[in-house]
Amino acid sequence: MDKPKVVLGVSGGIAAYKACELLRRLTESGHDVRVLPTANALRFVGAPTWAALSGHPVETEVFEDVHEVPHVRIGQQADLLVIAPATADLLAKAAHGRADDLLTNTLLTVRAPVVFAPAMHTEMWEHPATRENVATLRRRGAVVIEPASGRLTGADTGKGRLPDPAEIFEVCRRVLARGTGALTPDLAGRHVVISAGGTREPLDPVRYLGNRSSGKQGYALARTAVARGARVTLVAANTALPDPAGAEVVPVGTARELQDAVVKAAIGADVVVMAAAVADFRPAHEVRSKIKKRDGVEPEPVALVRNPDILAQVAARHPARPPVVVGFAAETDDVLAGGRAKLARKGCDLLVVNQVGDGRAFGTEENEAVILEVGGPETPVPYGPKEALADRVWDAVARRLTTA
Ligand SMILES: Cc1cc2nc3c(=O)[nH]c(=O)nc-3n(C[C@H](O)[C@H](O)[C@H](O)COP(=O)(O)O)c2cc1C
Repeated sequence: MDKPKVVLGVSGGIAAYKACELLRRLTESGHDVRVLPTANALRFVGAPTWAALSGHPVETEVFEDVHEVPHVRIGQQADLLVIAPATADLLAKAAHGRADDLLTNTLLTVRAPVVFAPAMHTEMWEHPATRENVATLRRRGAVVIEPASGRLTGADTGKGRLPDPAEIFEVCRRVLARGTGALTPDLAGRHVVISAGGTREPLDPVRYLGNRSSGKQGYALARTAVARGARVTLVAANTALPDPAGAEVVPVGTARELQDAVVKAAIGADVVVMAAAVADFRPAHEVRSKIKKRDGVEPEPVALVRNPDILAQVAARHPARPPVVVGFAAETDDVLAGGRAKLARKGCDLLVVNQVGDGRAFGTEENEAVILEVGGPETPVPYGPKEALADRVWDAVARRLTTA
């Protein structure tokens, strides 16, 4: 079978060197990658690097190898065009259909999905011209990954960093897997809020009441949502996973912190997915200093109080309720009956029920579940990668959004 053909566009930003790692990941995972740097990108990383890593010649202009008509062929043959880093200038050219070099020509001839990974100073990213260019590109069906926040060129910090190349690779992988049929990402223009991980309720400054959730299912939901064009806010409770490219990650610790973050992010959101394992109870009293062991004295029993029911709160019928609210239910016994009862009780639109215990679901790469839907079908999702379950959840969400 032919290798999937990826065109990697590189424009002239300081993060161009990070595209070398993206290129490596793409080639090592079996993709045939053609690199199209702009002339300015070559001031940052030279053509020999791109040629050696990709195994293809590297041109920037349309007047090279003219007999092969590369300004048309490369785009026509591509399965994916990813531009990382995408400068403010490149975004402007793409939004306006300029075609003054090989990369911008290819942007007009490509019929495959296009992913932009912008990187620039915060001021450039926030400028109304850039905002409008990004909105135009998204409206036309491109996936434009939100830049990360952190250290920028020089002494500055802020939003505008190129996300980790490993995470940009994950977006490419998912967009490729969805195929060229899905030219318009079905969550484009949607803001989705996802909770992930497991809350920790402090007993004293050292100990906590926690659970086994790793956050992998919530992160898979975030990654797949970015690849389907959504703006993603990921409320992450005690996870130890790399930030998904394009997602705004809000770290939290306790159930009440998670509640504050989710309720705030849910204002104006289209979808809330509560994939985090939120503690139902917390110690009634948090002891300010470490509980000591004393000879001959038995420890005090720990009194618990109920935590707020965040899913029920977000799903409650009120004017600002997000159009689609999704819950997750981890059950050990009588999974389906428990799930159906919970769907009716919580007021959410979809409930993903999975069986936990005996090493299932928590911390693993795979999951198996049934998606229950108010007034809709029950969709069993067979045992498989968590991202496959995530995609089935987004399929159901996208269906509901279009009929909402
Ligand atoms: C050191 C340096 C770093 C730069 N980094 C960026 C950047 O990260 N993002 C950006 O949009 N422009 C950046 N620029 C400005 C671009 O290089 C400039 O807009 C250029 O015209 C982009 O050309 P291209 O889009 O054709 O590659 C940088 C310039 C310099 C000198």
